Amino acid sequence: MAAEGAAGRKDDHVRLAAEQQREDAGRSGFDDVRFVHHALAGIDADRVSLGVEIAGTEWSVPFYINAMTGGSENTGRLNRELAIAARETGVAIASGSLSAGLDDPSAMPTFRVLRDENPHGVVWANLGVERSADDARRAVDALEADALQVHLNSVQETVMPEGSRRFSGWERSLAAIRDAVEVPVIVKEVGFGLSARTLSRLGDLGIGYADVSGRGGTDFVRIENARRVGGDYAYLAGWGQSAVECLLDAPAPSPVLLASGGVRTPLDVVRALALGARAVGVSGTFLGSVLADGADGLVTRLREWTAHLRALHAVLGADSPDALRRTDLIIEGATAQFAAARGIDLTAWARRSEAGARRLADREEPA
Ligand SMILES: Cc1cc2nc3c(=O)[nH]c(=O)nc-3n(C[C@H](O)[C@H](O)[C@H](O)COP(=O)(O)O)c2cc1C
Repeated sequence: MAAEGAAGRKDDHVRLAAEQQREDAGRSGFDDVRFVHHALAGIDADRVSLGVEIAGTEWSVPFYINAMTGGSENTGRLNRELAIAARETGVAIASGSLSAGLDDPSAMPTFRVLRDENPHGVVWANLGVERSADDARRAVDALEADALQVHLNSVQETVMPEGSRRFSGWERSLAAIRDAVEVPVIVKEVGFGLSARTLSRLGDLGIGYADVSGRGGTDFVRIENARRVGGDYAYLAGWGQSAVECLLDAPAPSPVLLASGGVRTPLDVVRALALGARAVGVSGTFLGSVLADGADGLVTRLREWTAHLRALHAVLGADSPDALRRTDLIIEGATAQFAAARGIDLTAWARRSEAGARRLADREEPA
């Protein structure tokens, strides 16, 4: 049952996300993606550079701690641990929605801790699309944020006991936010995916970055449903597209793609990068680490993921995240059905390395 007020809601989200994370060890869209293994294609791990440039900042690794929390005493402590882990590893971090801090300034320190503990790191602010342009400016200022994530969450609002039912003004509101802030704007879902049509529209609106945040990990239908008294929306669980489906379906041109939603391992990160994501966001899995083992536990995990990412790039013969886009991918299962229904040619994804290999062979032809 729901706790009272915004602070109670934030505590509920963390508690329920963590509980549901423990219950779920199910299949995800990422399990439908296999790399073709080329046994002679490997390179040396020390040749791999994991750095990427995202929204005007240089990152040492292509993954980040995605938006989660803030707004209550408990989640302020959690943000402090997340910020320390981000600082110690140089991993970028996004705040949870700053709405609670904008509406009640006494809650703002529970967000501001992300910047106070990590003064030189990459920190993104986060806000719902329905908020005003002025709120967006205040959110960015409050964290001295390097970018602003704006979330689209109509499904969550629908199941949320105190949620909105008014979504028609969102494009207008997004355009106003885009014009008001001086940092890059990243539009994201919260676990239901961004379709090809949505990504095209975001491109038309001049949005430079989009995090598809698909289904298969944290599920806000289940979380909000557990907070309801009656009026059960449990039947909506599983709504939307997975990150893998969103990446396969993304139009060209589209905003620069970020991916999140159900990322459990470094292999899922590599899969998302190979499918065209420039960087990969992780919430639920890192929340589990920090709740179980604090900032130190998350630092250990972030370092382990970095080492594993480098190792996986070496096996795949990719000296950078960009080079993963020339790997051969087999798409199976429900994701393949989605692709067939959407008219996506999966054979092209399965033979991507051949064009590159042919070019190399031509160049190496003896004179
Ligand atoms: C406890 C919790 C709170 C979240 N709060 C926000 C939020 O305030 N704003 C937002 O854009 N996304 C929020 N998210 C969604 C995540 O950023 C992400 O889009 C989603 O959880 C899917 O990623 P995952 O499967 O790795 O958890 C939250 C996620 C969790 C687990």
